[in-house]
Amino acid sequence: MKTLIIYYSKTGHTLDAARDIAEGMKENQVIPEIRNYIEMKYRDLGNYDLILVGSPCHAGSTAPLRSGIARPLERFLKSIPRNFLQGKKAAAFSVNAGLGAGNTVRSLEKLLKRAGALVVYSPGPAVKAGAPLSLWRGPDYNSRDREKLRSFGKQVASNK
Ligand SMILES: Cc1cc2nc3c(=O)[nH]c(=O)nc-3n(C[C@H](O)[C@H](O)[C@H](O)COP(=O)(O)O)c2cc1C
Repeated sequence: MKTLIIYYSKTGHTLDAARDIAEGMKENQVIPEIRNYIEMKYRDLGNYDLILVGSPCHAGSTAPLRSGIARPLERFLKSIPRNFLQGKKAAAFSVNAGLGAGNTVRSLEKLLKRAGALVVYSPGPAVKAGAPLSLWRGPDYNSRDREKLRSFGKQVASNK
């Protein structure tokens, strides 16, 4: 199963989450590629069977006014034509400094479904790390959240 974890990350926490999810996936013999969304064109997503998307929560507590997805990643996901991801499996995850990542995860899952993907795990994990507005990197997520991410990765990878 060719697997991609695509993410946006300003101060590195969402990338950390992607790496911990990948560790969990490896326990079920799935080795994902981890890519910053900026390296990808939407057409590249056609090369994968399973796609995980991660975003920090940006203004996620203002639902329903904002999706809570980092704007550049949201634009990328909205550029995927409807049904382009048909037949593919997908899941989402998010990181927030305090509040709102649940909204970000829901919004990511909605865009994945709009693109035609089957969301195989919902809601995906929301963990706590970072500083308000990411003005500095802020504290890392704790060991419980790390375990949550790994276990998510392991479960998603078992869905072959
Ligand atoms: C523009 C902006 C808006 C943010 N809005 C929220 C928010 O609504 N709730 C929250 O808990 N954290 C918010 N944050 C903080 C980030 O979600 C948090 O620091 C996260 O860990 C950053 O992830 P990253 O290191 O992958 O960029 C915001 C950060 C930025 C830059």
